[in-house]
Amino acid sequence: MAKPQQTFACGSCGAVYSRWQGKCDDCGGWNTVSQHTAAVSGAPKGLSQKKGTAVSLVSLNEPIVEAPRTLSGISELDRALGGGFVPGSAVLVGGDPGIGKSTLLLQAMAALALKGEDCIYISGEEATAQIQMRANRLGLQGAPLKLGCETSLRNILTTLGESNAPKAVVIDSIQTLYADHVESAPGTVSQVRVCAHELISFAKRRGIVVILVGHVTKDGQIAGPRVLEHMVDTVLYFEGDRGHQFRILRAVKNRFGGTDEIGVFEMTGLGLQEVTNPSELFLADHNVREPGSCVFAGIEGSRPVLVEIQALVARSSAANPRRAVVGWDTGRLAMVLAVLDARAGLGLSGCDVYLNVAGGLKISEPAADMAVAAALMSSLSQSALPEETVVFGEISLSGDIRSVSQTDGRLKEAAKLGFSRAIMPKGKKQSRKEMQQQTVTRIGDLVTNFFPDN
Ligand code: TYD
Ligand code: MG
Repeated sequence: MAKPQQTFACGSCGAVYSRWQGKCDDCGGWNTVSQHTAAVSGAPKGLSQKKGTAVSLVSLNEPIVEAPRTLSGISELDRALGGGFVPGSAVLVGGDPGIGKSTLLLQAMAALALKGEDCIYISGEEATAQIQMRANRLGLQGAPLKLGCETSLRNILTTLGESNAPKAVVIDSIQTLYADHVESAPGTVSQVRVCAHELISFAKRRGIVVILVGHVTKDGQIAGPRVLEHMVDTVLYFEGDRGHQFRILRAVKNRFGGTDEIGVFEMTGLGLQEVTNPSELFLADHNVREPGSCVFAGIEGSRPVLVEIQALVARSSAANPRRAVVGWDTGRLAMVLAVLDARAGLGLSGCDVYLNVAGGLKISEPAADMAVAAALMSSLSQSALPEETVVFGEISLSGDIRSVSQTDGRLKEAAKLGFSRAIMPKGKKQSRKEMQQQTVTRIGDLVTNFFPDN
């Protein structure tokens, strides 16, 4: 048996070093490098002498043997997964503590168990009584779901093997597991890597679904090495604002479906409820008559979502006026402000600017540029946008308005929710007769809505 070799590894990106260092050269993290014992099996001597077995190769056009997907019955979860769980796959669910990962997976497993599937929920964090109490509160006590409390990887693998390979297993969380043949504490890079690897190989071998819960660090990474994200087939992030009741399940990697698909849930006293029409929820308290408010017709994944963007612009005498953004990118706001100053001379550089995406949603689409610009100008001019108006479009640095994708979907959703006007880029074809459309080609066209003399 080869002697274990002492190396050092970065806890956030997995980079390996021969000596300890304070800063990781790879990801730039401070104090993330710690000791790591890797069992080396020696140089691959004699690899050429001993023959392995040949892999059977197939051509691209051979018939595909694909097992049907397993639907959890929670349609928002199935949507984020790209149409249900794929047998033999590994799913990583990440999210801040207390956001509802355990609740979501308990509900999903109970729903699957109620459909007659064999499911196991293993928790390394909570006692079975705690989980049972939660299940009682959620009204799931009748589901034939099997619970277990264990942190030893060996015992978990034995349990899964004995019970004749269940259909799905949840491990809550991967950071609490330990493999007894690895000499480091649970939650360290080597432990997380080994445990995940063993569970994923088990899933592939037996054709079961393994769902791993992963904690997220302060800066939003799944704790432990980032290699965990490379190892699994699907990575879902459960996000939301603790102050708001709704939660978004976002696919950031999916080998079996599209990414950027979202599932929307509402956290209630009875657990997570699905939200089938998110726009209604995000616009629930929308006040159309307020200056500084604008409704953005966005697309999240394949789904149109209307959200309210609120801005407050106030003259400031400070040398560095304040810029505060919630739910949008600070850099993108700086760009929109610069374009408005340079192309329309609005003098926003001398103003404090606050921007908020109502309801706690995080928007990353460039199509929100024009809605943000409209909210800013509405606040600056103290004039509200006309009622029943939605805005979308991308602003380029030259002040041109660029067209965006899925115009029709955005207009359709807006019309469905009672909006009758859209301020939008000039597209190739204009559709939706029921909507009155104001097409904008330059930022100046939008500015005249608020400052007629500009
Ligand atoms: P939990 O699933 O334990 O979060 P995680 O596993 O991501 O750490 O969720 C805990 C939070 O959810 C807790 O703050 C209380 C809240 N909650 C409800 O509001 N309603 C419910 O029915 C349940 C089960 C939890
Ligand atoms: Mg939990």
